Amino acid sequence: MPIRSFFPSFVSVSPVKFKTQSNIKKNQELREEILKIRELDDKGQKWSRQNYSGGYTSYASMNRLDQFSTTFSELRNALDQNIQDFARHLELELSGRKLVMTNLWANVMNTGTVHSMHLHPLSVISGTYYVQTPKKCSALKFEDPRLVQFMGSPPRKSKARAENQRFISLEAKAGQVILFESWMKHEVPPNPSRQERISLSFNYDWI
Ligand code: NI
Repeated sequence: MPIRSFFPSFVSVSPVKFKTQSNIKKNQELREEILKIRELDDKGQKWSRQNYSGGYTSYASMNRLDQFSTTFSELRNALDQNIQDFARHLELELSGRKLVMTNLWANVMNTGTVHSMHLHPLSVISGTYYVQTPKKCSALKFEDPRLVQFMGSPPRKSKARAENQRFISLEAKAGQVILFESWMKHEVPPNPSRQERISLSFNYDWI
């Protein structure tokens, strides 16, 4: 039976290429700098104690890391390319405006740290770059954006095709970036790994 698919929700998982360094070297540099920032960022530590149990995020204190040092601005420059490729696939009509990074912040999750379901309002494309992803660390879990409308719709088979699932979990892998449109709801379930899971999240707006 000919069946077509409309209104897809695109998510991209791709490696990030740095101009002068391998991902391994770059991630060592990012990790060191994030852990130093964590030590110095009293405001962020306080905010994390209340909102990010067991972990540290610079989301509420230092969310312009792309302007903080070349370590992070080089990451932004590399991510710009992934964003361009993703935007081309989405066929965005930007009417002369450009996609520009407006936030970049660090996340360090310890065992049990969780980031509950949310979206990134007022941005166009959001994503996360992975710096350190110990074995079995939490995935990034997406929710079907139509979920509230399903009402009488039966659940899908547990082995249904990925595009028919109501939730999708994508593995976090160091050196890779996951990109999605900012309205896509997502969460990071409690981190089961003993080692820290370290990532950098960001928003791009059209300016
Ligand atoms: Ni998020």
